[in-house]
Amino acid sequence: MAIRASILDELRRIVGPAGYLDQPSDIEPYTIDHRRLYRGATPLVLRPQSTEEVSRILRLCNEERIGVVPIGGNTSYCGGATPSADGNQIVVSLARMRRIRSIDPDNFTLIAEAGCVLQEVQEAAAAVDRLFPLSLGSEGSCQLGGNLSTNAGGTAVLRYGMMRDLVLGLEVVLPDGRIWDGLSQLRKDNTGYDLRNLFIGAEGTLGIITAASCKLFSRPRELITAFAAVADPSAAVTLLSRLRAATGDAVSTFELIPRFGLDLVIRHVPGTSDPFDEAHSWYVLTEVSSARTDSELREIIERELFAAIENGTVRDAVIAQNEAQREAFWRLRESIPEGQRLEGASIKHDISVPTSALPRFIEEASAMLNSLVPDARILPYGHLGDGNLHFNLSVPVGGDAAQFMARAGQIHSAMYDLVARYGGSFSAEHGIGQLKRTELARYKHPVALEVMRAIKQTLDPNGIMNPGKVL
Ligand code: MLT
Ligand code: ZN
Repeated sequence: MAIRASILDELRRIVGPAGYLDQPSDIEPYTIDHRRLYRGATPLVLRPQSTEEVSRILRLCNEERIGVVPIGGNTSYCGGATPSADGNQIVVSLARMRRIRSIDPDNFTLIAEAGCVLQEVQEAAAAVDRLFPLSLGSEGSCQLGGNLSTNAGGTAVLRYGMMRDLVLGLEVVLPDGRIWDGLSQLRKDNTGYDLRNLFIGAEGTLGIITAASCKLFSRPRELITAFAAVADPSAAVTLLSRLRAATGDAVSTFELIPRFGLDLVIRHVPGTSDPFDEAHSWYVLTEVSSARTDSELREIIERELFAAIENGTVRDAVIAQNEAQREAFWRLRESIPEGQRLEGASIKHDISVPTSALPRFIEEASAMLNSLVPDARILPYGHLGDGNLHFNLSVPVGGDAAQFMARAGQIHSAMYDLVARYGGSFSAEHGIGQLKRTELARYKHPVALEVMRAIKQTLDPNGIMNPGKVL
């Protein structure tokens, strides 16, 4: 049912003149998802400035049974922050709640509001000589609230964990407007159910996270970044194990890149080039760091890479000599999604299996995809150290994009069935949103689904929070 004009007025009054958007051209960016898979509609985007305002918004929407879609930096891959097309939901942007409320270097914690851009949180930590380790391609635009709500992953999970692992406490507004102040800064607090983990990864379906207490770490003093050509994925896994052991688990990044990924970047992204004279089938980008200045990490990495070249698992390797070279290596990795987008239509997966099973999985999945779409170009890349690959396909050269995309459903099913046989996940780090609800219903254990529905019913009996997402 369309939202009554008097209610829209009341919502506008809660946030004041600077706190809402209601002109079509202002609203439009909030109604289209990052991948342009969905186009929604809304009469009103609210931009509250305080937890109290969020609370009043939700209380009113709950009374009036109005659907509320929270949005962060709008970088979701699964349409998690896009309203429905009927125009009967309002959007709540946290962008104006952007304060670092406090920072405690000796407790290694900070408290930040949900609208802080991830990079601002990283910078606030760096300013007191600490590290906030969450790091992803969109860190210049994604927001902490979105990182929390989707339990974001990225390129340092191997060492520091996902967003879930970096949180000590939350402030959350429940669907009925009650505010839960759970901004604990304690590492030990064994007092019952772990409520914060209910809201992290809930994709805004249980309430709105307005602030978080986050863990900080010592800042790396030594940072070694290497780009290596490896014989195959199995050699990559072996190299990772060796580096982890030799450095005492100092590996923070270990990303797999197939030749096709490097080709796409070099072809489409200006200013990028092949680090090697010769083409190789597989590469890894790895980063190892220590907060010590006498860690001898460089010597260890050189020794390990040299030994791996001797035994044939590594074909060639280069260690970044300066920050510019380090950035150039990272650019090769982080430009893969952009390179693939510019190459044409693509079908994406975000899967995980145990790291040790990845080489066999890559072989089996590639053979399966080749038999389904013989000339599709397969691009399995990403977070090998986390057992998480973006196992994507690009439209065949000269192929028809629409015909290719029409097969996405069949390809997804085949991929996810195979992943399930490996005990893996069909959504390792990108969440469910509206894109993967069918898969959730199909692959999640039925008891887990029952418990999830019961939690949703308890916290949001009127179903106002991000309707149509996750469940
Ligand atoms: C990445 O790791 O590059 C992203 O999570 C996935 C993507 O952009 O395809
Ligand atoms: Zn990723």
